[in-house]
Amino acid sequence: MSMAQGGEVWSGTAPAKVNLYLHVVGKRDDGYHLLDSLVVFADVSDALTLARADAPSLAVSGPFAGAVPAGDDNLVLRAVRRLAAATGHPDGIAITLDKRLPVAAGIGGGSADAAAVLRGLARIWDLAADDPRLREVAAGLGADVPVCLDGRTAWLGGVGERLDPGPDLAGIPILLVNPGVPLSTPAVFKARQGGFSPEARFAEARPGLDRLCRLLADRGNDLAEPAGRLVPAVTEVLAALAAQPGCRLSRMSGSGATCFGLFDSPAAARAAASVLAGHGWWAAAGALL
Ligand code: C5P
Repeated sequence: MSMAQGGEVWSGTAPAKVNLYLHVVGKRDDGYHLLDSLVVFADVSDALTLARADAPSLAVSGPFAGAVPAGDDNLVLRAVRRLAAATGHPDGIAITLDKRLPVAAGIGGGSADAAAVLRGLARIWDLAADDPRLREVAAGLGADVPVCLDGRTAWLGGVGERLDPGPDLAGIPILLVNPGVPLSTPAVFKARQGGFSPEARFAEARPGLDRLCRLLADRGNDLAEPAGRLVPAVTEVLAALAAQPGCRLSRMSGSGATCFGLFDSPAAARAAASVLAGHGWWAAAGALL
């Protein structure tokens, strides 16, 4: 993240959000699902700039620019308008978004971008990082925006608004793989069958990869089965990831269709990335933040 002199321009990143496990533990009367999840962030990201301007605007570039919904209801422009209304600042902000992460993919996407915009606005408008209006606007924009606003490993509860600091997992090599088929979050929740899973937080504050994989062995993603029914490529990606040398664990993130593998080494993750990109899939190797 950087700021030019005078607080006029901000540039920063919107890291991919990854659910290491995701249990659906209940359902609210309004239809939203209660979740228990361990959320981490990877150094694979979109990039944004914000600058003061006469009117709000959004210019999108990058490999996934074509998949970003344009217009006023885009989540990043909604983030500007809502925080401007909540704080009394003029909403004249020009945003550029380099869209490097796949869209509707279970790794934050629009939520991560909206959260990055809130962080940037806080700098430009000189709001404290813990200003409650940031959290309120984030929660109103979507269930994943508050955790992306914090951008740190977190235990997530409720419908996404209950956050507690998670274990330190920084540096663990990860490979994200997306089969190129968008998945609608409401459709995946709707396709889910069966009952609820238990809450499954663990106490370790700093597990290494071996211990983490043992802990995650019986904690999966309850949305992987319905997502795989809607998009069979999810199941293919998970099998291909599991077959890569050095892959210690493979899971789907969020409501899919992006899956991830945790790897023994950065080199193993990079080697698997080039193999899986050969299937025509998006594959990006990095490390947990
Ligand atoms: O809040 P967000 O727009 O990200 O959620 C999209 C949809 O996903 C919701 O309208 C709801 O159908 C479903 N959802 C859910 N339970 C959650 C989060 C999302 O049922 N905790």
